Amino acid sequence: MKLKLAPGVLWLIAGLAIEMASAANILFLSPFTSYSHTHVFFYSIKALASRGHTITHWNGLKPREDIANVTHLHSASLQKMNSRHEIGFNGNNPIGLMLTLPDRLSNVCKAVYREPVFHQLITSREHFDLIVIEAFMNECMLPLVQHFQAPFIYLSALPPLPWMLDYTCSPLSFQQFPALCTDFTEEMNLPQRIVNVFLNVMVIYYRNWFILPRVDQVAADAWINSTVPLSSVKEIEKNLSLLITNTHPVINYQYFKSALIVEAGGLHLVPPSPLPQEVETFVNGSSDAGFIVLSFGSILRGASMPEATRKIFVSAFSRLPFRVLWKWEDESGMTDLPPNVKLSTWLPPLQDLLAHPKMRLLMTHGGLYSNQETVWNGVPLIGFPVFGDQVNYVIKAERDGYAIYLNWITLTEDILYNAIQEIVNNPKYKENVQKLSNLMHDQIDLDRPLDRAVHAIEYVIRHRGAPHLRPASCRLSPIQRESIDVTFIYTAVLFAFIYLIVCIVRSAFRKLSHVVKVDTVKKIQ
Ligand SMILES: *[C@@H]1O[C@H](CO)[C@@H](O)[C@H](O)[C@H]1NC(C)=O
Ligand SMILES: *[C@@H]1O[C@H](CO)[C@@H](O)[C@H](O)[C@H]1NC(C)=O
Ligand SMILES: *[C@@H]1O[C@H](CO)[C@@H](O)[C@H](O)[C@H]1NC(C)=O
Ligand SMILES: *[C@@H]1O[C@H](CO)[C@@H](O)[C@H](O)[C@H]1NC(C)=O
Repeated sequence: MKLKLAPGVLWLIAGLAIEMASAANILFLSPFTSYSHTHVFFYSIKALASRGHTITHWNGLKPREDIANVTHLHSASLQKMNSRHEIGFNGNNPIGLMLTLPDRLSNVCKAVYREPVFHQLITSREHFDLIVIEAFMNECMLPLVQHFQAPFIYLSALPPLPWMLDYTCSPLSFQQFPALCTDFTEEMNLPQRIVNVFLNVMVIYYRNWFILPRVDQVAADAWINSTVPLSSVKEIEKNLSLLITNTHPVINYQYFKSALIVEAGGLHLVPPSPLPQEVETFVNGSSDAGFIVLSFGSILRGASMPEATRKIFVSAFSRLPFRVLWKWEDESGMTDLPPNVKLSTWLPPLQDLLAHPKMRLLMTHGGLYSNQETVWNGVPLIGFPVFGDQVNYVIKAERDGYAIYLNWITLTEDILYNAIQEIVNNPKYKENVQKLSNLMHDQIDLDRPLDRAVHAIEYVIRHRGAPHLRPASCRLSPIQRESIDVTFIYTAVLFAFIYLIVCIVRSAFRKLSHVVKVDTVKKIQ
């Protein structure tokens, strides 16, 4: 009997041989960051280190834990800048934020270039096989890409911002991808689409004309002694190999993407660990009613909530049959706390809580991670968006039928109480989120989003960049890429044609009426 290997097995063996990327030296740069943005870095770095790569990570925040084979570069002044982004429960106006962005970014860049870590890096003469940069407000790291002559990747904790679609040469998806910080959905009417196009285009050009030149200015000062002339950051960015985003089509509105975008939304999702004993005892003791959790994540201090709002939560919770776990950073606690509520300055990872069989509901500001975690674990949510992109995710979650959007400014005790009762007792919320959860667990290519990200990163290392993935339309401006120039020409031609026809018809009529007039005159004579 002959032993025959199925072709599939051969491919598998060949695939494994290709898969083994030799150990690489990778530089991760996220001097400007927040606790939530570091998530995508932490998990990617941990996975890459365990595969034998050597990693240097310059992060603006202290690492949560030391990882073997990872060198952390870190400094106290960046820690201070990154641990308070001045996000509060009051008025976070996206337009105001946008207008101050050039100044903010220029200050960030100045601070970053002053760091000893930066000077240590540029004098190190180290060879890096790849540089990974956090995609939001770290443009001043781009000159390092030129300095080290390494391929580079952006890793983003956010869905693509308009300029990210632009620099990956993706279609801008104006017609269905609402701008962040708006309450538009994927189904926009004409006025909404007009605003959406305006916002997207405006933001792209605003960055090109006002933000990036500021970075160039600051960079030129910092690199004044460099022997090689510094390219503009816009120019360096054109060598981008990939953008890995924290999006997933089950959670985020869909957008069209070029091959430069790899979606790895939920790469931080890991199998749950058991809860600490104290928490387990509290949540497990919640009878059949189960427990619910209120947490505003890491960037917002729950304890900075206005007193009137706090009272609403306390009185609504006191009427509920569930136990409530509340992340409250103020050590002194509350005097009016009902017995079914437990305050905690620190909560175990949300993923562990969400995986608990008695978990009924998460109440949250509605950030992207909590959205992914609730869907992954099949738990519905109530969202109180506070700033930025949160409103987009909560509105989408409500449309998808697994969430209730509450405006915390108009919140009353009854609204809150009824919303909680509705979401826990009406089975449709749980059913909808379970359906999405099944979809999210059913990923076709590689096992998990993290594997997808690791594969993408090692792919770029193996091939020393990925210029072959760049669409030819990268040569074109956004206007050309969206064929707006062509549409304009067609419109002009159409109008010229219509005008011509009108002219011909008019002159024909004139002639005709002249002939008729002459005829009648002749007859009368
Ligand atoms: C560190 O890298 C080495 C190879 O360079 C590898 O054998 C080892 O498993 C890595 N350690 C961890 C904890 O990932
Ligand atoms: C440039 O070099 C001069 C002389 O070596 C030095 O004094 C100065 O601090 C350097 N500037 C920067 C920005 O590194
Ligand atoms: C872009 O990459 C090419 C090829 O690696 C390199 O020659 C060029 O200098 C890079 N451009 C910039 C601005 O770094
Ligand atoms: C949870 O409570 C049940 C009884 O309600 C008990 O049988 C179980 O051991 C508890 N689990 C833990 C982990 O404490």
